[in-house]
Amino acid sequence: MGWNSWNQVRCHNLTEDIVKAAADAIASNGMREAGYQYVVVDDCYQGGRDPETGSLIAHSQRFPGGMPALGEYIHAKGLKFGIYGVPGSETCANFWDEYPIHGLGSLGMEELDAQTWAEWGVDYLKYDWCRADITDELEKIPAFLRMRDALVTTGRDIVYAVSEYGDDEPWTWGAEIANLWRTTQDILPEWDSVAGIINAQADLWPYSRPGAWNDPDMLQVGNGEFTDDVEANRAHVGMWAMLAAPLFLGTNVPDLDPQILGILTNPDVVAIDQDPLGKQAQRLVKNADGTQVWSRPLKDGVFAVALYNLGTEHQHITAALEDVVGAGAWRARSVWDQKDVDVTGGHLSADVAPRGLALHMLRPA
Ligand code: GAL
Repeated sequence: MGWNSWNQVRCHNLTEDIVKAAADAIASNGMREAGYQYVVVDDCYQGGRDPETGSLIAHSQRFPGGMPALGEYIHAKGLKFGIYGVPGSETCANFWDEYPIHGLGSLGMEELDAQTWAEWGVDYLKYDWCRADITDELEKIPAFLRMRDALVTTGRDIVYAVSEYGDDEPWTWGAEIANLWRTTQDILPEWDSVAGIINAQADLWPYSRPGAWNDPDMLQVGNGEFTDDVEANRAHVGMWAMLAAPLFLGTNVPDLDPQILGILTNPDVVAIDQDPLGKQAQRLVKNADGTQVWSRPLKDGVFAVALYNLGTEHQHITAALEDVVGAGAWRARSVWDQKDVDVTGGHLSADVAPRGLALHMLRPA
């Protein structure tokens, strides 16, 4: 859980001040206490390589204070520091954003770069494929393993997030290499993108487990169609929690609408997302009218159940408890308004807004 610069500023607007503002806000608006901790600087922080040592250096205009000082700043707020790298020679922004500085990739420099990041105080690495097969004829698994081994060699505890956009079923091999792996192409701040990603996760539940997670990409909360649409943000964040997904905000945190901040810090949402069993939700019902039922087992025999409406009309969604959480007596609570819901008839139902989600915790009575 945390923040990443990319969905907020992409490449050319990334600065040290933006990163510090995110850290300041997370440390003061309740997000840190809710569990948001990683502040990740994505692509376009790099200024080149030191001509003598070959070490990566930060962009001097964008990051005038330098990376070790930024790491200290983030740590002093009680947060953790994340950074971006690539296995080939070119970063994605060299290609997609015409970032003019080259030679930033870690190919042949894996140990040096891992050491540099460790010296900067880095706690999280996003390692992004970026067409390294085309530019450098690399193979994914050996390339990702080289950086894993380099990170281990530093002796520092660094979360390792790999990204190849779900192209080669990384859920089948990612757990051997990394802590999390992207399962999709880049998320956009549009409902269709978010709904498409949710749909594509339905069969991936067997692969996620503690320490090894499917990553359906960062949140678009606060951006584009998710700027202030409370229902759509509930569906987006609530389904990411059901998917046991990382929750990385990528918006201007100080500007967050208070109701949307409330979704992100809702204690049930965080408890579902971070549940220690680490089991990802399964989709149990998929109706032609765009209504779906998803269920996720949590610790102590509790279940999270999502009644999800992808459509553009209001829908009354009903699920038989026997089919969703099993026989027996249950108590249900709605996550959004923290109220008990009557399930004595053996059914859980809710009116669900268009592009919305009713989320519930079900406890054995
Ligand atoms: C993409 C990646 C994005 C972002 C970007 C940086 O490949 O999926 O999340 O990291 O590269 O250039």
